[in-house]
Amino acid sequence: MTDSSLVRDIIVRDDGAVRTIRMNRPEKKNALTQPMYAEMTRALHEAAANAAIRCIILAGGQNAFCAGSDIGDFQKRAEGGLEPVTVDFLRALVRNEKPLVAAVGGTAVGIGTTMLLHCDHVVAAAGATFATPFLKLGLIPEAASSLLAPQRMGHARAFSLLVMGRPLSAADAREAGIVNTVVDAAEVDETARKAALEIAALPPNAVILARRLMRSETESVAERIETEVEHFKERLKSDEARAAFAAFFARKK
Ligand code: COA
Repeated sequence: MTDSSLVRDIIVRDDGAVRTIRMNRPEKKNALTQPMYAEMTRALHEAAANAAIRCIILAGGQNAFCAGSDIGDFQKRAEGGLEPVTVDFLRALVRNEKPLVAAVGGTAVGIGTTMLLHCDHVVAAAGATFATPFLKLGLIPEAASSLLAPQRMGHARAFSLLVMGRPLSAADAREAGIVNTVVDAAEVDETARKAALEIAALPPNAVILARRLMRSETESVAERIETEVEHFKERLKSDEARAAFAAFFARKK
């Protein structure tokens, strides 16, 4: 087993043909900072260049899978003080050719939920919840979720999730076609690992080809990401968004 993490809050570990990219900032529910995005992007690119890696697991913790982008970083971006690397991660995710398994041990918010739309197999804890409160933050959906969520679950359910911000339970998410398997929280990592090993044992070139054929809309997904990014950048600077960010940090005072 080798550990090649460059950032404390992301653990990148290779075990045979399976690479695990684990978000590890439990004190902030795995909210993603810009260095975390950059490290996840690096880990995806590195896996792409390494033929020995046949499957990638995206994992978080048992308490939280990922609370979305760090809202403090949103504030800095709104002030123009931070170069966004989130979009590099999204580009890497959509162009990634290695099968992706997600191990969702708990809360998945924002990009924590939308990144799952790019995964091939998702294991979730029975108590996990899935939410995309973009609109409540004055923002719009990202990660091509405005395209992929309606395709996956139909417009009405996608509107409830993406626009109204109503969360899905693990059972709802399975029914909506986001999640494959729901297990006890303690079994999430092992169940995801078994699925990854099952995929990694298949002929790798055939897997990559089958996956490419099944994801034939990669170009329109990539285009949608760029379109959303343009709107997202504008929204970040809006009065609606700035007020919502301030309210998030003021909520406990
Ligand atoms: N950005 C920055 N900090 C975040 C965060 C985020 N996206 N999500 C959680 N945190 C921080 C909290 O501010 C808190 O920090 P503190 O201990 O210094 O006060 C810590 O993580 C724990 O979060 P807390 O809210 O106390 O935990 P909870 O179990 O009550 O709720 C969440 C967990 C994820 C439901 C809640 O934190 C939340 O709604 N976060 C925002 C999610 C979001 O809107 N993401 C962006 C989507 S576009």
